[in-house]
Amino acid sequence: MHISKAAYLVSSPEVEKCPAPDRPEYAFIGRSNVGKSSLINMLCRNQKLAKTSGSPGKTQLINHFEITSVKQEGGRDYSNWYLVDLPGYGFAKVSQTQRRQWEKMIENYLRKRENLIMVFILIDSRHEPQRIDLDFVNQLGEWQVPFTLVFTKADKENQRTVAKNVKDFLNAMRETWQFLPAHVVSSAIKQTGRDKILGIISELNKE
Ligand code: GTP
Ligand code: MG
Repeated sequence: MHISKAAYLVSSPEVEKCPAPDRPEYAFIGRSNVGKSSLINMLCRNQKLAKTSGSPGKTQLINHFEITSVKQEGGRDYSNWYLVDLPGYGFAKVSQTQRRQWEKMIENYLRKRENLIMVFILIDSRHEPQRIDLDFVNQLGEWQVPFTLVFTKADKENQRTVAKNVKDFLNAMRETWQFLPAHVVSSAIKQTGRDKILGIISELNKE
């Protein structure tokens, strides 16, 4: 799949204000600072598309990006879809009230957005399984929202550690999950995981 157009569309404070659900949509979520915006930029090969930051909590609204893709470069079989950059969870420096507001916004978005096809949950590949990520994964399971796991920042740790962290996370999921979701190891710097993620989206767009 080749992305022929990627443009920022709009930021919305709640699901009801999001653009009309007239095409497939794919959302990126995960802990604050895990690399959601960087991954979106890497996928679209545009470093200026989604705002990234060294300090957590940069993304605070539901951000829609309009994507047009073709099967092969120069092809004419266009598909239009949305990528969505969501604010991260687990940001320590916010008040209870803000956190609840975030939770409500995310829950509403994930449960009500009718064109949402797949959620990519980003997990920092440098760390051992974190309770907060496992809880979020289980929450999505309860809401029956389909998701794929993306283990980010793989360039920052040696491959053996990354592989162990991935394995341990999947093993921890086995306690509650009978079937494990697809997973991808990624690096925004090295462009790792790009083909795999775009391949997943491309397949789902066909359905
Ligand atoms: P919030 O919107 O604040 O929740 O953060 P985010 O998840 O969108 O993270 P963002 O993409 O802003 O990246 C956070 C920091 O991690 C930035 O300094 C990025 O440059 C860095 N980063 C993101 N992905 C990678 C990666 O794959 N490798 C490396 N080395 N750094 C990365
Ligand atoms: Mg962000």
